[in-house]
Amino acid sequence: MSIAEPAAAPTTADAGSSSAISIRDLRVVYGVGDASRAVTAVEAVDLEVEEGSFVSLVGPSGCGKSTLLKVVADLLRPTSGHVAIGGRPPSAMREEGRVGFVFQQANLMPWLKARDNVSLLRRIVKGRGLAADRAVLDVDELLSVVGLEGFEDKRPSELSGGMQQRVALARALALDPNILLMDEPFAALDEITRERMAVELLRVWSRYRKTVLFVTHSLEEAVLLSDKVVLMAARPGRIHQIFDVSIPRPRDRETRLTDAFHETVREVSRELYKVMA
Ligand SMILES: Nc1ncnc2c1ncn2[C@@H]1O[C@H](COP(=O)(O)OP(=O)(O)OP(=O)(O)O)[C@@H](O)[C@H]1O
Ligand SMILES: [Mg+2]
Repeated sequence: MSIAEPAAAPTTADAGSSSAISIRDLRVVYGVGDASRAVTAVEAVDLEVEEGSFVSLVGPSGCGKSTLLKVVADLLRPTSGHVAIGGRPPSAMREEGRVGFVFQQANLMPWLKARDNVSLLRRIVKGRGLAADRAVLDVDELLSVVGLEGFEDKRPSELSGGMQQRVALARALALDPNILLMDEPFAALDEITRERMAVELLRVWSRYRKTVLFVTHSLEEAVLLSDKVVLMAARPGRIHQIFDVSIPRPRDRETRLTDAFHETVREVSRELYKVMA
């Protein structure tokens, strides 16, 4: 069977929908079966992420941001509701390597060079039967795009934290995924590196134009990067408000200095304070 054939399983996306990620009436309860311990992590979540857009999830700790990302990544089964990636089930998309992830820790293989860390996943998925004609991105080109030209043969211990996250980003893109999921990818970095990485991510994103679902605690980071900022509230985790960020692209570090940027950050902050009250 060709990997490009539609999945046999029923899909939940509407015909003609341009959503890369479609979430309908999602509910995730941890500890089902033990009423005294059950935690409703997210409830009644509806979200459409347009093809090629950059969407951030923000909100107080425990509002279900990571839970939502894990469901899309097929690392967690929802209690009820529907999730589709390009109209297909997350499990099928993950198996084919069409979902890229970057987490807070780079989790690189310490004994492998940067280049081999990036190509490892490709070798594993190929071993599982990746279609021979499946387009993948060139590893050296990717390393160069993420700013690691000249570091291809270094091992993780020879790279800074920011550089390790660049390798993790290149690895996530190596199979030319349909969507990229990022859960606080810069949270472990110092402030200056973090700001620089956000600007670098803008550059990489404009090059590949992947659909990105990005989790951050930084409203500034969310506004700088995103087309839409999704503000969630906790107990139970739910979507409180979705903000359209109309700041023109291309954006760069100077964008942080503009009135439009500060006004948008203020607008999201005001609502964040309300949901935290
Ligand atoms: N494995 C688990 N078992 C039980 N409860 C969990 C589990 N993982 C998360 N939770 C609960 O689900 C809710 C949502 O957690 P989640 O990690 O998705 O929040 P978050 O928004 O990512 O928080 P943070 O900003 O701190 O990373 C929280 O109340 C959390 O305690
Ligand atoms: Mg989290």
